[in-house]
Amino acid sequence: MSKEKVLVTSALPYANGPIHLGHLSGAYLPADIYVRYKRLNGDDVLYICGSDEHGVPITITADKEKVSPQVIIDRFHNANKKAFEKFGMSFDNYSRTSLPIHHETAKEFFLEFYNRGLFIEKKSNQFYDEKAKMFLPDRYVEGTCPKCGNEQARSDECENCGSLYDPSELKNPKSKVSGGTPTLKETTHYFFPLGKYQPALEKYVDEMNEKYGWKDNVLQYCRGWFKDGLKERAITRDLDWGVKVPVDSAAGKVIYVWFEAVLGYISSIKEFSQLKNQPDLWKKYWHDVNTKYIAFIGKDNVVFHTIIFPAILMAWNEGNKEKYCLPQNVPANEFLNFEGKKFSKSRGWGIDVDEFLNLFPADLLRYTLAANLPETRDTDFYWKEFQLRNNSELADILGNFINRTFTFLHKHFDGKVPARGKLFKIDEDMLNEIGGYPSCVANLFEKFKIRDGVNEIMNLARDGNKYFNDSEPWVNVKSNKEKCGTTLNICLQAIYTLAELFYPVMPFSSEKLFKMLNAKPVEWKESSKSLLKEGHQINSAEILFPKIEDEVIEEQVSKLGNPEIESEKKQDELISYDDFMKTKLKVAEILSAEKITKSKKLMKLRVMLDDGERQLIAGIAEHYNPEDLVGKKVVVVANLQPAKLMGEESHGMILAVDKEPRGLQVLIVDDSVKVGTRVK
Ligand code: 2FM
Ligand code: ZN
Repeated sequence: MSKEKVLVTSALPYANGPIHLGHLSGAYLPADIYVRYKRLNGDDVLYICGSDEHGVPITITADKEKVSPQVIIDRFHNANKKAFEKFGMSFDNYSRTSLPIHHETAKEFFLEFYNRGLFIEKKSNQFYDEKAKMFLPDRYVEGTCPKCGNEQARSDECENCGSLYDPSELKNPKSKVSGGTPTLKETTHYFFPLGKYQPALEKYVDEMNEKYGWKDNVLQYCRGWFKDGLKERAITRDLDWGVKVPVDSAAGKVIYVWFEAVLGYISSIKEFSQLKNQPDLWKKYWHDVNTKYIAFIGKDNVVFHTIIFPAILMAWNEGNKEKYCLPQNVPANEFLNFEGKKFSKSRGWGIDVDEFLNLFPADLLRYTLAANLPETRDTDFYWKEFQLRNNSELADILGNFINRTFTFLHKHFDGKVPARGKLFKIDEDMLNEIGGYPSCVANLFEKFKIRDGVNEIMNLARDGNKYFNDSEPWVNVKSNKEKCGTTLNICLQAIYTLAELFYPVMPFSSEKLFKMLNAKPVEWKESSKSLLKEGHQINSAEILFPKIEDEVIEEQVSKLGNPEIESEKKQDELISYDDFMKTKLKVAEILSAEKITKSKKLMKLRVMLDDGERQLIAGIAEHYNPEDLVGKKVVVVANLQPAKLMGEESHGMILAVDKEPRGLQVLIVDDSVKVGTRVK
């Protein structure tokens, strides 16, 4: 297959919070595996990402913390960039949309369309928060639906009854930003005529699907949108955080975050080109309509990448000689949940990437997530499954195969690759097996069936173990060293292929494995071609995948919880002072004590309290001699309902602690304390 020019992007994550495992599974890990595979395949690949640093949630976080939005984006841009690095993401550039180069790019597109008269200008009434001094986006206004009375309706739409209305009809509007009552203010916005591009977009989606096979979930989303009919979309907002609308009459407005964020894919490569001192390099990718452009995203971003972004590029292309390539495929993933529920920071459900990687090596997470990617349906991360995949796949299958081969080789062949002798059927079969893997896995990766590809690679390690077992080198080493050498030679070849094929999935472990093999990665399809020659010195082995103990996993599971509900529960478990005072704890003097003959444990006590004498039965007979108790002052529950034990009446309970190893120890107070004194 001829070499391809490939441009790969992953959705630009908002710099408004830390990335979690769900993000990785959706748009990042599959892209990184694909990119690493394509690079090994010899293709010309550029992989681009960056932080999405505009949008209302960022300003709201900033307001809550009483800092500027810049503080928020700096914090999360840096944290996420670091977490991605630790996870082994191999971006060629990780940019940010607050950079001047991005603002210039977004403004250039805006002006191009504005000057061509493409936008529709419309006046409308929008809610304004006087306290917060801002126009409120729909989801920051809540009120009562004029049609059905739902009290959580948005400014112009009710999710309960599905009706659309004018914001002036919403009853009791409340601003979610300040909590105050917003007013309606007239404002003008620019709208992008999406409907105008519907025929071209439908053709584009059909063609791409026919040629490159789009995923069903993605096609269904697109067709749903087409069926409803595309309408013009407002691409400006009345806010001050964002890319300023570059038109004098539009002071105080910014470009809608989604319109400019997708252009971040272009500005990120521009930044990369500048950093490389090749300012026009970006054009080589973007301005070649034959570039294979693949946009990795999560399912919530489909419309922006299959309809809005292509429409923006089409609109540019129809007025310019230098045309942009459109996404050839948009392999959107479904969601990853965490132990059966949605990730939720506020409920303490899930784990940040950085926190995870402080506990476990990146490759364990990469492998576990990759083997269970939400490609066709939502999937879950379970701690137990993480442990199982590590222990019974990475350690018991892959690690074991590598380990037994290396150990045997060092013990019996001085760590040198033995010659391949006469090949028997079992050897030829194994060589054929190995030979088939690179293209089989490549076919799956090319179709974005990353999960199947990863699980397929593990099968090679399974084959390796079976071959090792069936060939019995430990028998042949005594009787037929040549045959034993052949087995080891072929096992090493399988390990070489495994190191190469697993490289995109587990780059850190794969690099170690190549070092152990004293070899380097080669072009993907060459990796099964018997590259380790006779006599080649192999280095000593290290354990690549130690097992994870139950306690380690149990600790993580026990940390999972809902901090809010947990604290509510704790509230429920607390008792009030009044509740406590209901229990009358009083000091009593023991007047007499005797064991109850029919019982091993029980002792009959007569005690004096402030209201007279009474009888108590206590389970302390195994721990005290009766005579040692007489005269002692103890604490009793004085208002316990009477009970009968072995036919004897008990009017109260004596307090004792369970003390190892002696057993029960009665609480005894100082002799000077008066009988009847309340214990509180
Ligand atoms: O969903 C998100 O996290 C968005 N920030 C993705 C943007 S992708 C592209 F438009 F930049
Ligand atoms: Zn309603």
